[in-house]
Amino acid sequence: MSAGQSILITSVRPYGQDEAVDILVVDGAIAEIGTELAAPEGVDQLDGDGAIVLPGFVDLHTHLREPGREDTETVASGSAAAALGGYTAVFAMANTNPVADNSTVTDNVYRAGREVGLVDVHPVGAVTVGLAGKQLSEMGMMNAGAAGVRMFSDDGKCVDDPLLMRRALEYAKGLDVLIAQHAEEPRLTVGAVAHEGPTASRLGLAGWPRAAEESIVIRDALLARDAGTRVHICHASTAGTVELLKWARAQGISITAEVTPHHLLLNDARLETYDPINKVNPPLREESDNLALRQALADGVIDCVATDHAPHASQDKCCEFAQARPGMLGLETALGVIVETMVKPGLLDWRGVARVMSERPAEIVRLADQGRPIAVNEPANLTLVDPDREWVVNGADLASLSTNTPYETMTMPVTITATLLRGKVTARDGAIVGRQSR
Ligand code: NCD
Ligand code: ZN
Repeated sequence: MSAGQSILITSVRPYGQDEAVDILVVDGAIAEIGTELAAPEGVDQLDGDGAIVLPGFVDLHTHLREPGREDTETVASGSAAAALGGYTAVFAMANTNPVADNSTVTDNVYRAGREVGLVDVHPVGAVTVGLAGKQLSEMGMMNAGAAGVRMFSDDGKCVDDPLLMRRALEYAKGLDVLIAQHAEEPRLTVGAVAHEGPTASRLGLAGWPRAAEESIVIRDALLARDAGTRVHICHASTAGTVELLKWARAQGISITAEVTPHHLLLNDARLETYDPINKVNPPLREESDNLALRQALADGVIDCVATDHAPHASQDKCCEFAQARPGMLGLETALGVIVETMVKPGLLDWRGVARVMSERPAEIVRLADQGRPIAVNEPANLTLVDPDREWVVNGADLASLSTNTPYETMTMPVTITATLLRGKVTARDGAIVGRQSR
């Protein structure tokens, strides 16, 4: 593994501080931070032009669709979307075909990610064989393989059998790996396609009650308590989940949680058109949930942002609401939505953005080389943001192979001007800068 590249980044503002500095990167690590630094001979220069610089983002919840649905996303196209979105590491969910429930699949995804070289791709292993919820997968083998799998999830499906979930947590404890739960009690969501509430009732859509999520959140908190281990909640979507997280933390339970950009910004008022672009799991809820989730993210009750980037083919989205697949794109629009919902209203400053999009996610999965401070001797995984340059979302222009963005025609308030992975520029002004080997 090569250490990385050397580059002089001029005129950037760490965490949005007022004064611009230069950052000299040598062999993939930050060697010097100061003013009027000179580039050593043969070292490239990148003009930051006063951009804000943040640690590269880490996404704990990405669906890359490889293997099995390479028509909708591949490791390469998803890596490009991630780099353009400011990400330097993504966790690729296990609900592929075949399922990532063995080390052959997880190692292949890992190697594909390295080959593309735009972002660190960490495969997530399935908790149960075939995501069937019956038998634990060989977590130890996946952890011991080349991919070193450190996070396991049946995401897309809930590990609903409480005894199996208990065993998974106990097994994970021994391996010191993370179980991430898609919290959905399936007996409460049979046939459900939208948030259970007045809107779904009026529109005649079958409802997915908040209790389906919350009952699993509290159950898993108690199971983690008894197992003496940690558990992570995927895509928290309700105000009630926020209250349960607070309660569990107050008991000293080791529970972490993520929220998606779409659950912060969008709600079931969008369903009036019956456009399946708005269909997602868990469903878009109500404005009161949006507000509670924003406050929880600001307060640290919810640890981090995760995109749940879920590409789907147009034929699986442009159909009757009940038939459409749930899920929406997220990687390329995540920062814009976080600025809109969190930074503009004053709930987070740029330090806070670094915390929820980079530092906390890296800590949750114990990545040593991501989510690090912008400081000398730290790896140069960096994202440059122009806080004053807007752009308009056009699904067809996104790097993802799919176009199912709910933000079509929406103006994003900020632009990512560059992303660097160990000093190598992976994205620059909306374009991918090329592959690298590591
Ligand atoms: C995800 C997908 O399409 O794989 N869909 C979704 O609506 N979020 C699965 C998931 O994250 O639950
Ligand atoms: Zn899920």
